[in-house]
Amino acid sequence: MANGAMDDASLNTATTSIIGAAVPRIDGPFKATGTAQYTADFHFPNLVHAVPVQSTIANGTIRKLDTAKAESMPGVLLVLHKDNIGKLYRVIPNDFSATSSEARPPFEDTRIFYWGQYVAVVIAETLEQATAAAKAVQVEYDSAPASLKPSLADYAGKRKSVSKRGDVNKAYEEAPVKVDQLYVTPVETHNPIEMHASVAVWDGDNVTLYETTQGVWNAKLAMAQILGIPSENVQIITKYLGSGFGGKLFPWPHSAMAAVAAKRLNRPVKLSVNRRMMFSNVGHRPRCEQQMKIGATKDGKLVALRQDYLNHTSFIDDIDEGCGECTPYLYSVPNLEVTSALVQRNTGTPSPMRGPGAVPGLFAMESAMDEMAIALNIDPVELRLRNEPEKDESTGQKFSSRHLKECLETGREKFGWSKRNPAIGSMRGTGSQAGKILGWGMAAASWGAFRFGANASVELCPNGRVCVRSATQDIGTGTYTIFAQVLHDKIGVPLDRIDVFLGDTAHPEGAMSGGSWATASCIPSLVMACDNAKRTLLRLAVETEGSPHHNHDAAKLELTSGFVHPSDQPYHQGIPFEEIIRIARVSGVTGQGRTVSTFEDPKAKDFSLHSYSAVFVEVEWEPDIARLRVSRVVSVIDGGKIINRKAAANQIMGAVVMGVGMGLLEETRYDQRNGQPINGSMADYLVATCPDSPTIDVTFLDYPDLVMNEYGARGVGEIGLAGVAPAITAAVYHATGIRVRELPVRIEDLL
Ligand code: MOS
Repeated sequence: MANGAMDDASLNTATTSIIGAAVPRIDGPFKATGTAQYTADFHFPNLVHAVPVQSTIANGTIRKLDTAKAESMPGVLLVLHKDNIGKLYRVIPNDFSATSSEARPPFEDTRIFYWGQYVAVVIAETLEQATAAAKAVQVEYDSAPASLKPSLADYAGKRKSVSKRGDVNKAYEEAPVKVDQLYVTPVETHNPIEMHASVAVWDGDNVTLYETTQGVWNAKLAMAQILGIPSENVQIITKYLGSGFGGKLFPWPHSAMAAVAAKRLNRPVKLSVNRRMMFSNVGHRPRCEQQMKIGATKDGKLVALRQDYLNHTSFIDDIDEGCGECTPYLYSVPNLEVTSALVQRNTGTPSPMRGPGAVPGLFAMESAMDEMAIALNIDPVELRLRNEPEKDESTGQKFSSRHLKECLETGREKFGWSKRNPAIGSMRGTGSQAGKILGWGMAAASWGAFRFGANASVELCPNGRVCVRSATQDIGTGTYTIFAQVLHDKIGVPLDRIDVFLGDTAHPEGAMSGGSWATASCIPSLVMACDNAKRTLLRLAVETEGSPHHNHDAAKLELTSGFVHPSDQPYHQGIPFEEIIRIARVSGVTGQGRTVSTFEDPKAKDFSLHSYSAVFVEVEWEPDIARLRVSRVVSVIDGGKIINRKAAANQIMGAVVMGVGMGLLEETRYDQRNGQPINGSMADYLVATCPDSPTIDVTFLDYPDLVMNEYGARGVGEIGLAGVAPAITAAVYHATGIRVRELPVRIEDLL
């Protein structure tokens, strides 16, 4: 529960309700019994299979593409390529109504920009036939030298100033204590358990695309633009998603390939992206190189902060990782500048990955803060506390709700930080940790809070059930359950009488599931839809002849636990809402709701909106056998009001494990000869699994942020990852005396 949450927490009127409870997933039984349909599970009569042909060079052009042999193979129905795909369109750039991941539609011309780029797609009766024929497509290339070097140091172009105040260079020169270091984070690949897939089904001019997307509505608008058809003719369905981590925010070229093939053959087409393609064709977190300069006074007050970052992008798209996301507001510092620049590489287009910008940015920022604490001989928690800002110094805005200090203090307490001996390698484990050297490190972190436009409709049905519909989606994080919780809170019927319909553009336009904003974005639309449905119901109750409340004052009626009753009488003496609907002989009572985004809300514009966290990490180091393990993590999260304690804790625990992967394991490497990801499989790309997982202690401060919505929810997920990797490297330094500034930490770094 809340840790000393007093001031703004007391404003919340819903603390004893289902809001905040640890409600198990309402969709859990469908997943556990295998009845939940993920995209690739959709089958239709006459469905055929598409398998892409991929480039084997990283840069150059197609000289010759020979499909004759493939076309003659058994079961092959069609081979699509640049000469016969027909006209596909680019999504209008910088038009925020729709976004695609890779600007270039499939097979646009003969140019090759990265290994694995789709050059053709074979459609056959069976997956095996399509796979065999895809191998038989013969492609000859004119290969050109490729830019593949991991290091981005060759950058020589113009930098962009992202944020600036004071005179940072002068202040840095004059500062008595300085840190000036380069921090590097590698390419990381999203590895959700469910791979991308598209199943395309046409009916006349209308196409239904079963998709793996974090944003069905964006996919509808983007696919309409790519295919050059009206958006009314495109329906997107994503009932369940085996997570996305940002790689599934926007459509990738395979969706258009499936749609065109299905149209051409007039048969449903399924295209599944396999695990190897996941490493080349559907995004990754780009490599980032960040030069950090921090200047401070001898008593630990920051006076200068400079961050110059580079990240790689493809030759197709300019993707800025945004490493300066948190730098301008995290600490009080009068002189600051953040600059960015892009370096092109022959890889696929990078994409957002859990905590884009902030996660690599905070690795640099918080590592540099740890190095500064050591240079100053000040405790690293204390250094952060001494630099807590009064307001967002980059914009002058007030913070809507910022409890970073309490995150730090609570985490320090829960972790037992007071027992830390700061001397390197000085702490030895006891009991099961006997003989091991313990390293303790920490970091602070932040992530933006966003509320985007969203719509929902709520229907009170004559069978006593309540339906809610919105074209948002549950990406595995618990959105179905959170919808049901809000409905239960507002209408009062039990969860098993609430039906939540998501993941279908037949419903009102909902929010994208990204940036940890789905919950905050959906709540106002749900609350408004419930209120509107309730108002209509109570009006029917007083206007309908035969209703026990006929000719009463609707303002004196209430809807509680599904009963309509006078406010001054117990609810069970009232009448079930479905009785009113039956007496009124209507098909049901519907209410619509709409969320206004924080960007359009004049009240929100006055505030700097963010979540915060503090992460404390223990590593065990066994120098004799060179074994390093993260053994214990305490994560304290200031994420606003938590709507579902269980789902939220799941998010933070998963994020901590992902942070262990980022700290110790994950890196995508490319073959320098041809740009092929060398470790592009789950056998070779290491992610943290159960044996790598530490003991994880999650605490939510639970202060409602009422600028966000009536419950005060901001959102969790990304905040749980931010801060883990720098806390790990700080702990590694404490154990070993070795400062690793390039992730992941390798055993060879420590020998
Ligand atoms: Mo997140 S990287 O916005 O899915």
